[in-house]
Amino acid sequence: MIKTILITWWAGFIWSHAVVEFEKDWYKTVLIDNLSNSSIDVLDGIEKILWYKPDFFQLDIRDEKWLEGVFSKYNFDWVIHFAWLKAVGESCQKPDLYFDNNISGSICLFNVMKKFGVKNIVFSSSCTVYGEPKEIPVSENTPLWETTNPYGKTKQLLEKILEDYAKFALFNVINLRYFNPIWAHPRWYLWETPSWIPNNLFPYILKVLKWELECLQIFGWNNTIDGTWIRDYIDIIDLVDWHLKAYNYLEKNNKDWLFEMFNLWAWKWVSVLDMVKVTEKVSWKKVIYKIVWRRDGDLSEIYANTEKANTVLWWEAKVSLEESIANWLKFYWII
Ligand code: WQD
Repeated sequence: MIKTILITWWAGFIWSHAVVEFEKDWYKTVLIDNLSNSSIDVLDGIEKILWYKPDFFQLDIRDEKWLEGVFSKYNFDWVIHFAWLKAVGESCQKPDLYFDNNISGSICLFNVMKKFGVKNIVFSSSCTVYGEPKEIPVSENTPLWETTNPYGKTKQLLEKILEDYAKFALFNVINLRYFNPIWAHPRWYLWETPSWIPNNLFPYILKVLKWELECLQIFGWNNTIDGTWIRDYIDIIDLVDWHLKAYNYLEKNNKDWLFEMFNLWAWKWVSVLDMVKVTEKVSWKKVIYKIVWRRDGDLSEIYANTEKANTVLWWEAKVSLEESIANWLKFYWII
């Protein structure tokens, strides 16, 4: 029987891709988003790939009545939840917005799930939950420290809430900690369409290459090998593949009340200057940059080992960093 999945905040860069992959894998997806930082155009991009548009409802998950209306129309087997806002820097400027969207919105969603007997949830968490870890690379068992930004705090709190929902037999939870996704569909129909200047590194670099920004500002010199912050960048196709595998894992292991955690990363660590160099190599263009003040909330270096995902989910990354970047650059006609 075809499983029905509710995907919240689908129109963001990750989940527009996941909608395509889940639909291609014979799942029926139902999409909700308030489109506060994405565009309905992404649905057209999905239609170009699937030849049809999945059911979409423009609503805010904090609006419980509207949310109940959607749950009353479908018999959801699963919810995949992204908890909305995700920018580290922005969360330091607008902590109230992040706590209201991510925490209040998620609690509202969980209440409606419980009301309609929907027990299975894949939660998109974040490497920011680690704070400044004392051990690198981090694993699923690495202790969490005080987060460095409100965004990470919302994810750390939601992880703890869901851990108790599983422990006290309300939900089955797959908790996926993302590191730094890079996103453009190889068929170039899906992309991120933020309604403002993007917060993330790669969209900034793209705007510099397109002469829409004068130069890339690299936030602060740090105590790393080349003085710039270190991250792990995972391609969207690998990230979505993760979710399908995690989803199937829970389907197969749907024992009583499960809480399973996986780190999602793909490469060895990459510094900001490494990203600039790889982009220049792939694009044959110079990325103008200058070193500026440190950004509030930034982690210094964070990357993970994925031994657990490799052994439990038989997953490994397939898309190289160069290939990821090339997809982006092709989509924006830079190469
Ligand atoms: C990457 C690096 C910046 C912009 C992301 C997601 C977040 C979470 C964790 C999922 C940092 C530097 C950036 C710029 C720069 N993932 N930078 N100049 O902050 O690591 O967070 O991964 O939950 O949701 O947003 O990503 O792309 O903003 O920054 O120097 O103009 O690039 O300091 O070291 P970040 P980012």
